[in-house]
Amino acid sequence: MEAIRIGLAGAGTVGGGVVRVLARNREQIAARAGASILVQRVICRHPENRSDLAPLVGELGLDWHALIDDPEISIVVEAMGGIEPARSFILAAIEAGKHVVTANKALLAKHGNEIFAAAARKGVIVGFEAAVAGGVPIIKALRESLVANRIESVVGIINGTSNYILTCMRKEHISFDEALKRAQEMGYAEADPSFDIDGIDSAHKLSILSSIAFGGPISFDKAYIEGIRGLQSLDIEYAEELGYRVKLLGITKRRGNGIELRVHPALVPERRLLAHVGGVMNAVVVKGDAVGSTLYYGRGAGSEPTASSIIADIVDVVRLIGVSANHQVPPLGYRVANEEYLPV
Ligand code: NDP
Ligand code: HSE
Repeated sequence: MEAIRIGLAGAGTVGGGVVRVLARNREQIAARAGASILVQRVICRHPENRSDLAPLVGELGLDWHALIDDPEISIVVEAMGGIEPARSFILAAIEAGKHVVTANKALLAKHGNEIFAAAARKGVIVGFEAAVAGGVPIIKALRESLVANRIESVVGIINGTSNYILTCMRKEHISFDEALKRAQEMGYAEADPSFDIDGIDSAHKLSILSSIAFGGPISFDKAYIEGIRGLQSLDIEYAEELGYRVKLLGITKRRGNGIELRVHPALVPERRLLAHVGGVMNAVVVKGDAVGSTLYYGRGAGSEPTASSIIADIVDVVRLIGVSANHQVPPLGYRVANEEYLPV
């Protein structure tokens, strides 16, 4: 079987998860992709701290240029976060003709238009399923499964950290700060957690979803943004007494000739499904003219849920670049064993 070599920039919560899941499910992923996926190089700031990954990857180093210059690497994964050097790294990878997979919604919200234009010029793919709602395949749903629809609205809980905080405050009666600390320990929060609690991360994701749903450029700067920082336990308790749950929602919908784009805490009636989305879970309701309302639900942050989406993008690239002309996606009713399809 052919091998596809990838380079990974960032070996933290997300990057580490990618390496572990690729190693654990190696054979199954290879059978589904039609090629084995090898992590040829990993770079981060302190490779000496990631000796746990060393047995699972080729080289572990510091220099992202070495990764871009490696002619054997055809796909790069960006899991560093932040704007620079992530932006320069991705643009350099595209310029070198490499396909890119990224989890970096902050970067895409601010520089996505530039990055997608560069990728279109070079004819390479930029996958970003992991950038919105962690392990929930909402990008694929919007771009592929719902392609027949005129999308009316996208409404959801798209930040795991703030939903986790609100859930802990309601159920365990712990303070905002204590709940945030726990979310950070579990690897859910951004490097700067004010992105989570001030609604900025939700707005990054919402602007990406809105661009896919309604067309047009990513318009993060146009979003109304309000976070959960000002909320107190009493607000949550009173809301509950009145039959509501407090949720940080991202909402984008058609309004006259324009598109509404807003993130803010909202009182969600208990009879609604979104009211019952707890902890780190995310949920997005997409309404299309043909299909009606559809719901996408799952873990919105964390190491392996996010790795799951990154690897799905890698496999998509492998399939799209047609590594193995004879390879087929496993047909329904069959399972893969020793690279053969066997009836279930
Ligand atoms: P971490 O902080 O856990 O990991 C970041 C990694 O990138 C570390 O290995 C770090 O190196 C490396 N890194 C950071 N800056 C540089 C640099 N300048 N040069 C080289 N390496 C660098 O972050 P996460 O894994 O949590 O997040 C990564 C990305 O994924 C972010 O864009 C985030 O928004 C996104 N994301 C995160 C999710 C989550 O649940 N955590 C979910 C979905 C998306 P070192 O450790 O050596 O300092
Ligand atoms: N900090 C983000 C969150 C990570 O809590 O949702 C997933 O994008």
